[in-house]
Amino acid sequence: MHSREALPLLALSPLLLSQLSLADEVSSRIINGTKSDSWPFMVALVSKNRDVNSGQFCGASFLGGRYILTAVHCVNTKEAQDLDAVISISDLTQDDVAEHRYSVKEVYIHSSFQNASSCNNIAILELEKEVDYTPVNLAGKHLRNNLSTGETLTVMGWGDQDPVPLVDQTVCSSTYSTVTENAFCAGFKAGGYDSCQGDSGGPIVVSNGGTYEQLGIVSWGSGCAEAENYGVYANVSYFADWILEKTQGFSYRQSEFVGVSLLGAK
Ligand code: ARG
Repeated sequence: MHSREALPLLALSPLLLSQLSLADEVSSRIINGTKSDSWPFMVALVSKNRDVNSGQFCGASFLGGRYILTAVHCVNTKEAQDLDAVISISDLTQDDVAEHRYSVKEVYIHSSFQNASSCNNIAILELEKEVDYTPVNLAGKHLRNNLSTGETLTVMGWGDQDPVPLVDQTVCSSTYSTVTENAFCAGFKAGGYDSCQGDSGGPIVVSNGGTYEQLGIVSWGSGCAEAENYGVYANVSYFADWILEKTQGFSYRQSEFVGVSLLGAK
């Protein structure tokens, strides 16, 4: 089976992969994916001053204007100035990557985040300036709540995409006790297809009458592509108000902002 061949790769770090110069064939961390058409809203998070291909560490999606959606555990140990967002490239080695690369001005982290497996794994990056790419459409509660178990979703990582079925919410929360309405599972009971390390923060989308809408954010899972251990995704529709609040154009430094309110409380 394909999955058995793919699994040993999980032990390799992205750096090792690129050293082996297998980049084109296997740099995608999506397991058993097929090469994607370009997804215009797909974003690669890359360490500042690093080559795009070797410095990519997470995925994200473009919300429009100056804003990028990703997972907290991708950015909470980093400063905004250590990050670049590379927007709308399907191949990290393509010649014009530099033209798609932007500095990050602020990082906004969900205040209820504790660790990836406790959910609330949602963060927004604000770029230094507005950019002009096709933004992702976010799925609302109505779409989310009307999806059937087994609905095919598409999760994407580097140039690859993977079709994975939506898992019944009761099965998801009995597999992972921390999963509530703020997350969902996708994947096969038998395993084999999954997102994995390096895909975190990236979008999982569903087709809604022909247009794709982002349903979730790659968050965590027990291992990758293992039988009965599904991938867990932050439920974008659950965080609609939070996303709106952060993307309204009011820019602030989160750490200083907290400092100010603490002073006021004294
Ligand atoms: N936590 C991983 C990352 O940081 C990816 C999580 C996805 N895991 C999964 N089994 N679907 O890239």
